[in-house]
Amino acid sequence: MLDAAKRLITPSKRSDVPPFMVMDVMAAAARIEAAGGHVIHMEVGQPAAPAPATAIHAAQAALAHGRIGYTEALGIPALRERIARHYADSYNLTLDPARVVVTTGSSAGFILAFLALFEPGERVALANPGYPPYRHILSALGCEPVLIETSAETRWALTGEALLAAHQRKPLSGVVIASPANPTGTMMAADALARLIAVAEAEGIRVISDEIYHGLDYAFAAATAAAISPRAVVINSFSKYFCMTGWRVGWMVLPESLMRAVERLQQNLAISVPTLSQLAAQAAFDGRAEMDAVKHGYEENRRILTVGLPQAGLDKFLPVDGAFYLYADISRFSSDSLDFAKRMLEEAHVAATPGIDFDPVNGHNFLRFCYAGSTPEMHEAVARIGKWLKR
Ligand SMILES: Cc1ncc(COP(=O)(O)O)c(C=O)c1O
Repeated sequence: MLDAAKRLITPSKRSDVPPFMVMDVMAAAARIEAAGGHVIHMEVGQPAAPAPATAIHAAQAALAHGRIGYTEALGIPALRERIARHYADSYNLTLDPARVVVTTGSSAGFILAFLALFEPGERVALANPGYPPYRHILSALGCEPVLIETSAETRWALTGEALLAAHQRKPLSGVVIASPANPTGTMMAADALARLIAVAEAEGIRVISDEIYHGLDYAFAAATAAAISPRAVVINSFSKYFCMTGWRVGWMVLPESLMRAVERLQQNLAISVPTLSQLAAQAAFDGRAEMDAVKHGYEENRRILTVGLPQAGLDKFLPVDGAFYLYADISRFSSDSLDFAKRMLEEAHVAATPGIDFDPVNGHNFLRFCYAGSTPEMHEAVARIGKWLKR
């Protein structure tokens, strides 16, 4: 009787996803700050800048107007059109707005896409290191994430050969690609992306391209999978380039054949995406000058870190191509990135994310720095880390 009652309140096996270790670092940082310390936050991957003024004004106007009702499940038509126009403006690609779905951040886009594409038990390839929620969402939905190791030889990106090898060992149904990637900050050149997509499609492996860090490319221009294949599922968001993390709004570009399935899923799972956020997102496209100024700040931060960290002692890191991440190899100093991150925080008051959050295999040797903060903070971080490592 007691056992039966207990089962009523125990969580399901599928909800047993790992926590984010960085939360430990954040809690420790909060304790230092509560005691009067000044921490430089490089652990959380979000812009320090607010949404562009155009977005904020649009939301204020909508609030003043009053009623905030549901919208169409696929999103406000004018926003879907504006997103389609963004592909013409940014990638010289003509895109039918009928293939655009507005989502509650890219996070909800993954849930919708994985549900629409895969059956439980299907295997989906992911690059390791990578963004942990890919694998956690897949496993919560009953799919099997398959990690494929990446290395310096392939600029830390998946390749067609590696995908094919994994597929031949045991068939894959999908692959998630990210360029620029989190946590590595590395990007794939257009031809590398096209080769990977061609191999995947030849094998019937569905391609999901996470393009959330597009707009934040420094080394070369990011290519969209939408321009490479009309069958690719493209996921994007207003969170990063548009500085709108908390507004929870993103989008997908889908093959025509998935639209109705995703519409039905969205109707049932969410009804629609928050209206205020959709209106703000539409206006955000008119705030490009503001966002480009923020991007120039990241470029300067990137320069400070790529010059300053080697002088400070951290001289091994992955190519710093895009997004706002620098992924540093700390193996000269430690093989326990969580311990290293905790000590760097406690002793130098610089917070970064341990690689184990992103890479169960080699993450103990890496630390991710987010450089979306202010330029003076970057100078200060380099100085503090240098002093700490040379103590
Ligand atoms: C690679 C990547 N994809 C997706 C997301 C999810 O972002 P959002 O749901 O805010 O669009 C993040 C957030 O950090 C990310 O780094």
